[in-house]
Amino acid sequence: MTERYAVFGNPIGHSKSPKIHTMFAKETGQSLSYEAILAPIDAFEASFKEFAANEGYGANVTVPFKEQAFSLCDELSEQAQLAGAVNTLSVLADGKIRGDNTDGLGLVADLKRNLGDLCGLQVLLIGAGGAARGSVLPLLHSGIAKLTIVNRTQAKAEALVEIFTSYGDVTSLPITHVGQSYDVIINSTSSSLSGEVPNISPDTIAPHTVCYDMMYGKQSTAFNLWAKSLGAGQTIDGLGMLVGQAAASFSIWRKVTPSVEPVLAQLRSELIG
Ligand code: ATR
Repeated sequence: MTERYAVFGNPIGHSKSPKIHTMFAKETGQSLSYEAILAPIDAFEASFKEFAANEGYGANVTVPFKEQAFSLCDELSEQAQLAGAVNTLSVLADGKIRGDNTDGLGLVADLKRNLGDLCGLQVLLIGAGGAARGSVLPLLHSGIAKLTIVNRTQAKAEALVEIFTSYGDVTSLPITHVGQSYDVIINSTSSSLSGEVPNISPDTIAPHTVCYDMMYGKQSTAFNLWAKSLGAGQTIDGLGMLVGQAAASFSIWRKVTPSVEPVLAQLRSELIG
């Protein structure tokens, strides 16, 4: 029987993961299947365990199950441990379940694809929810000079800094006190979903500033439009992060790294329509 992989979520109908992984499998000559599984809100663990007992080798996990996936693992990567959430489950040969988190790796891979070397950059991360937490360690390991975290609710940004303070140069500021410009500004908040922009000073944007919104859509996100209107040097959306996290999951499972570019080009053309 073909080795099965899947993405679990609720809802899951619009997930691009089956398409992405099917393209990766074709490109790398791997024989596998990848499906989308709608897990009941109150039965994620049972749903995954049934899958694992039926030739399920690995799975991606999306909203709202990343914390539940974290809890069911027998072992966790350091990145998953610190993220407090798991987006990649692997069923090991002895039946144990290992959890990884590749979301932040996808972000850093996409930043490097767009910008090259990240060494020495001053980076501002907006948001302190799950998406932000999953990104901090990969950012601190990427060579950047310093990471500053701001959030609408400042206590949450401070709590993140507490978790990661021994892993690199990371600090927080009240969101209304950010006065200087940054090399890279990453919006990890869900504000673009409602067409809003976090309340940060326009002084954060200089002509060389690269703005990255983890959200993506047919049109530019509200945050990227705001950044462009202030003269940001480059704006990037999160489609490449999505493909990047998938590539990192695929290489954990299959020990082969697929090419991101052709899949990203395909998804982009479908998105624009
Ligand atoms: P996710 O897992 O996608 O990060 P989350 O954990 O619910 O989702 O976190 C959402 C993040 O977006 C938080 O940082 C939230 O700020 P608060 O902690 O103050 O709630 C931020 N957020 C959501 N809507 C926002 C808005 N309109 N403006 C600014 N920040 C917003």
